[in-house]
Order: sequence, then structure tokens, then C-alpha cells
Amino acid sequence: RDLYGEERRNSAGLELGCAKQRAALTAGIANSAMPAVQARPLIPGVTVTGSEAAVISPVDGKTKAGSVVMADTGHVEAAFTAAGEGFKAWSRRPVEERAAALDKMADLMEADFNRLMAILCCEGGKTLPDGIAEIREAVDFCRYYAAEARGLFGAGRLMPGPTGEEDRYRYRGRGVFVCISPWNFPLAIFLGQVCAGLVAGNTVIAKPAEQTPLIAYEAVRMLHRAGVPEAALIYLPGDGRIGAALTAHQKVAGVAFTGSTETAWAINRALAEKRGPIVPLIAETGGINAMIVDATALPEQVCDDVMMSAFRSAGQRCSALRLLFVQSDVADSLLTMLEGAARELALGDPRLPSTDIGPVIDAEARDGILAHVEAMRQDQTLRYAGKAPGGDLAGGSWVAPHIIELDKPEALRKEVFGPVLHVVRYESKDLDKVLDAIEATGYGLTLGVHSRIDATVKMVVDRLSVGNVYVNRNTIGAVVGTQPFGGSGLSGTGPKAGGPNYLNRFALEQVVSINT
Ligand code: NAD
Ligand code: ALA
Repeated sequence: RDLYGEERRNSAGLELGCAKQRAALTAGIANSAMPAVQARPLIPGVTVTGSEAAVISPVDGKTKAGSVVMADTGHVEAAFTAAGEGFKAWSRRPVEERAAALDKMADLMEADFNRLMAILCCEGGKTLPDGIAEIREAVDFCRYYAAEARGLFGAGRLMPGPTGEEDRYRYRGRGVFVCISPWNFPLAIFLGQVCAGLVAGNTVIAKPAEQTPLIAYEAVRMLHRAGVPEAALIYLPGDGRIGAALTAHQKVAGVAFTGSTETAWAINRALAEKRGPIVPLIAETGGINAMIVDATALPEQVCDDVMMSAFRSAGQRCSALRLLFVQSDVADSLLTMLEGAARELALGDPRLPSTDIGPVIDAEARDGILAHVEAMRQDQTLRYAGKAPGGDLAGGSWVAPHIIELDKPEALRKEVFGPVLHVVRYESKDLDKVLDAIEATGYGLTLGVHSRIDATVKMVVDRLSVGNVYVNRNTIGAVVGTQPFGGSGLSGTGPKAGGPNYLNRFALEQVVSINT
């Protein structure tokens, strides 16, 4: 049951270990792969013309996932005008209607599961487990925010007190919200922001990442079918220039952003420099996430959890493990295990059930990650370098897992968004220094601790201001409504996505006091 006593279920998964379910999924994906998606800006009353750009799959660098007509800055004004008009009607709709649209959206996604999987695999290079997890998270966001909204956005709450008046406290939409999302969860994060904005009574201009416009387009069209008016949700595909133009606009009432810390700073500056209303920013950004493993940890479990945390999704999760601290007594044996386990990971066509790791998102990402590895190997120890697939996939953007041993944690200075694990040894007497080093990164998104000593776990958890701490398990895959997700410091402003304080940050508080 949720906070309001309502029964709530998370979406059902698939059992990929079951041959029948696996076969049904792979056949379903193969049958849904065509026709390719054709995306273009969706602004009511505006006929968009422009040249179509092909969206090419990162899997092989040649398959066309679809095409997109990108928005230009001229569309930004039209988008605000339409969304401003749309706000008048949408914000007055009863919350039940807005929530019902989200519930309907969840049903539509479950019904169109295979098609969404096909797009995620082709456009984003998602493996089967990652695609399934992504759709489930998107479904969960819809249902969770719908349920939360029903509790929060009704007639409001009568406040107690001595005034002798009727004091009613309530939430309402703020206006036109701009939602800007990254490519690594091109459905779940895109939808999480958009649905939160909409159900809170705002209209939304949604700008997906330029690398993944297709799945976002499908999601917007589905939301329109689910009952969200076209003027309440506008789709503007484009790169950072469109994002910058949206956040600089005078009529923006709020911004929800997920992406790099660098871009969050740019948006923050743009909002601050406007001479106009003071606009709230919700920013969910990156991390140099650490895991601490002491000599009491179970090595096999650590090995599994490190593989999962560092290499699943090709390391392209904000929650992914970047910096592993291992107590020196067990470091040699653990490193040997990790290298052996990394060697077993299968890179390949993400639609195959046998594949563990798909490509990184594009050639630019690949080149950046490989340049980092190259720079590191000059003065650090490269312990393991996997092999990228060849043959038909040689033209894709591939980075195999790498494990690099650092002589000190400060050798890693930036978030490297790919399958590169950095390992540092520490002496048990120096645990405090490890915590200092983690604090010194300035990030605070996820943290893993593997230890069987309760006092150690408590000391670490109490000392560090990290948003999501995982003890004796992996550090990825926070569950909506159960493990609200988000960090602090360089990792974001809060609130936590999929948590009880998320929706109210999209809303305006109002108190109506009536002299009865
Ligand atoms: P990015 O910052 O490059 O881009 C994110 C979005 O911002 C894109 O839509 C992009 O077009 C837009 N953008 C770029 N410049 C802009 C500007 N000046 N003004 C407005 N918008 C602009 O990030 P990315 O490479 O797409 O995503 C990877 C990053 O996202 C990593 O740092 C990762 O850790 C982070 N991330 C964080 C979370 C979280 O929940 N904390 C989740 C996923 C990803
Ligand atoms: N919510 C995603 C995770 O926990 C980012 O991995």
C-alpha cells in the first residue's frame, strides 16, 4: 500500500530464463521492428517542414531506426504560445482525469511492449534485460505518479488553527514546464519528468536527447492517445541549442532536467540571468559513484554485484559504479575474480538473449571513453581490456569493459560514462581516508558497501551524504515507489524521482483563506 493506503503494484517482469517467454519476446521484437519511426516536432496548429535526418542504430552504425525532423529555435515561440493556451484548460481538469491519462498510458505501454522494445534496442542499443527494465520503470512512473497525484492534488487540505476562517491549503500547476532528458533512459526518464509535470497540472514542452528522439516521439503520441491534449504536451526534438532556447524563454514556469552536471550549471545560469519570475529547477545529474569492499565481504557476491553495477547497460547509468575501493588483504584475489568475470561478458547484438552488453550510444561517446582509457594507461595500471565485436557489428559504437587499477582515488577526476571500472586498494586503518576521498569528488548519487560488520556499514552510511546507498548488493536499478532515486551536491538538486516528494516540486502551493 502507498502512503495514502491505496494498493499499488509495480509492473510485471518477464522471465528471460523461461524458453517460452524468451522466444515470444524475441519473435515479438523481430515482428515489430518495421516500419521505422518518423518523428517531427508536435506543436498544435503548426505544420512543421524541414529536412529529415536519419537516426542510425549504434549497434552496427548502419541500420536506420527511423528519421527525425529536428525543431529549430523558431519553433520555441510557437511551442510556448500553444502550451500557454493549453494550460488554461489542462490545469482546470480534475486531478482524477489527469491521473487517469497516466494510468491509461501505463496500460498502452504494456500492450505495445514489443514495439517499444524494438525501438529501444535499435535506437538506444538496449539489451533485452535493459529494455524490459526501462519499460517497466516507465510504467511504474506513470502508475506511481497517478496514485500520488490523487492524494496530493484534490480539493486541498483544511488547515487547523485559531483564525475562525476556512484555510485551505492546496497544490496547483505552475504553468508551462520544460522537461529536458538524457539518452540513457530515453523512455523512463523522459516519461517520468513529463508525467510528473502533467499530472501536477502543468503543460509540458518535452525536449528529448538528440540521440534518442524516436522512442520519445512514440511516448508522446501514446500520451496523446491516453487522453493528454496536444496543447498540454508539446514535443520538440533537438540538441542543446533548443534546450538553451527553451530555458531562456520568459514564459518558462519550471524546468525538470536530467543529464550532466555541466549542462545543469548552464541551465541554472540561463534561469538566473533572466529578468523575470524566479524559476525552479529540478536537476538530476551525474556521479563518480563508489563501492567499498572490506575483507569480510562475500567475494562471489561482490564479483556479481560489481559486474552488474559497473558494466550493465555498458556502464551508461548515472548510478553505475566508477570507483571500487577494495581492502588490500583481499584485493589480489578479488581483482583476479573480476577480471575473469569481465572476460565472460558477451558483447553483441542487444536483441539476442545471450548478449550481456550492447554498444555505447554513439561514436562521440565511444571516442571519449577510449581516450580516457588511453590517457589512464599512461600512468595507471590497465588490468583488463575486453574486445569489441567485429563482423557485422564492427561499424557500431562499441567499448568493451575495462578495469583500471589506480594508485590513488584522485587519479579519477570526472564521470566517465561507459564500461570502465577504476579500482583502488586501501588499508583497513585508512577507511576514513576512503570516505574523505569519496566526499572530495563532490558528487553524491549512489554508494555501495560490501561488509559483514554492522558498525562499518553504519559508520559509512551515516558519514556520507549520498542519495542512494546499497549495502551488500549492486548499486543500480532503483525501484519506483520503493527506492526513490536521486542525489545531492554535484549529483542534483533533489527531489527524488519515484518518491513521495517529487510531484509537489512541480506544483505551486496556494492557501485560500475564506472568512466564513
Ligand atoms: P547532457 O547534459 O549532455 O544532455 C542532457 C540533455 O540536455 C539533452 O537533452 C541535451 O540536448 C540537453 N542540453 C545540452 N545542453 C543544453 C543547454 N545548454 N541547455 C539546455 N539543455 C541542454 O547529458 P547526456 O550525455 O544526455 O546524459 C548523460 C548524463 O546524464 C550523465 O552525466 C549521467 O550521469 C546523467 N544522468 C543522471 C541521472 C540521474 O537521475 N541523476 C539519470 C540519467 C543520466
Ligand atoms: N534509476 C536508475 C538506476 O537506479 C538510474 O539505475
